[in-house]
Amino acid sequence: MAELDSPQRQATDTQMLTGFWYRALPADRVQRNQLHKAMLLEIPLVIGRDRAGRPFAMRDACPHRGMPLNGGHFDGEKVECPYHGWRFDAHNGQCQLIPSLTSDQHLKIDRIYAGSYPCEEKDGFIWVYVPDPGPPGAGFTQREEAPQDAPVIEKFGEGASAKYKIAYLTADMPVSIDHGIIGLMDPAHGPFVHQAWWWRSRHSIHEKQKNFEPIPNGFRMSAHTPSSNSAPYKLLRLYADADSITTTIDFELPNLRREIIRAGKYWFSSLTTVTPITRNQCRIDVVAAWNLFRWLPFGAEMLKFVFSKFVEQDRRTMELQAEGLKHSPHLMLIDDADRPAKWYFQLKAAYLEAKRTSTEVKHPMSGPVTLRWRS
Ligand code: FES
Ligand SMILES: [Fe+2]
Repeated sequence: MAELDSPQRQATDTQMLTGFWYRALPADRVQRNQLHKAMLLEIPLVIGRDRAGRPFAMRDACPHRGMPLNGGHFDGEKVECPYHGWRFDAHNGQCQLIPSLTSDQHLKIDRIYAGSYPCEEKDGFIWVYVPDPGPPGAGFTQREEAPQDAPVIEKFGEGASAKYKIAYLTADMPVSIDHGIIGLMDPAHGPFVHQAWWWRSRHSIHEKQKNFEPIPNGFRMSAHTPSSNSAPYKLLRLYADADSITTTIDFELPNLRREIIRAGKYWFSSLTTVTPITRNQCRIDVVAAWNLFRWLPFGAEMLKFVFSKFVEQDRRTMELQAEGLKHSPHLMLIDDADRPAKWYFQLKAAYLEAKRTSTEVKHPMSGPVTLRWRS
């Protein structure tokens, strides 16, 4: 099992990827004219909404003497540090005022910046772009803009069928982003962790075969008719009056899992992210949009109930796993059930290598692959 001890694998647990968008906070928690604390990749952030409702993200540390800005005054446009009252533009971090300066002291305050990050609101979350770190010891200057927009949930249909519902669930996990992600893509824990009378029992374990293919920075579990061993899928097929139900599940670096289920004119689409908070803490945010069961009064609540059970089962599992991980045990990834996890680590290593050498990412998969396991 030489592969398990490869240097890439051991290096990954402390590597968090910069140069990507991350979900920072659910949008409904951030009110106008207020400041909130958040953390991404061990960077303390202060997140707020200006007077017009536009969100912004700054580093939660004053460039003067490092005072957290979240306890400062915010007038809906400028953030004032609670220590010496320096004032910063909330959207670009530029210093606007240093109260201690006398009229004949000509410090060029517009060259002083608090850390500021690109910030977007998408599908009910505030997203923050975390750029690659600057040279060590350098202060902040004008911020770096994101090379692309924050990810969105794919939605389908036109006219009446374009109407959809959206909901989110969030759970803190006391493990690294790597364990969060491989837990999310792990097919073998289902019968043991996610038992429920309405879903499946551990005795329903059977052999499965799934097709995977490479996609840019990730891989896709190709469209297929979901296995019929679970009641919800049987129900769905009946309800949608569709011959087939197709599901695709994509994983994309650094932390995105997209699942799309389509049955006739009905669809369900989710974007799940595992956000690195610190090196041994992450958060799973599931945001789902759907037009299935939209007219049922309890549709949204039912879906949310089912999902929250799953997420809570995963959270509890990872809480227990974190106990075991405290003492750095030796770990294994086995074929075929852990192959997606291996791809994840390989993709991450390939991405970092491409960045280091300024070359294209060498995808670890050369083409479609069929994996088999029992779950
Ligand atoms: S520490 Fe912020 S103004 Fe001095
Ligand atoms: Fe799970």
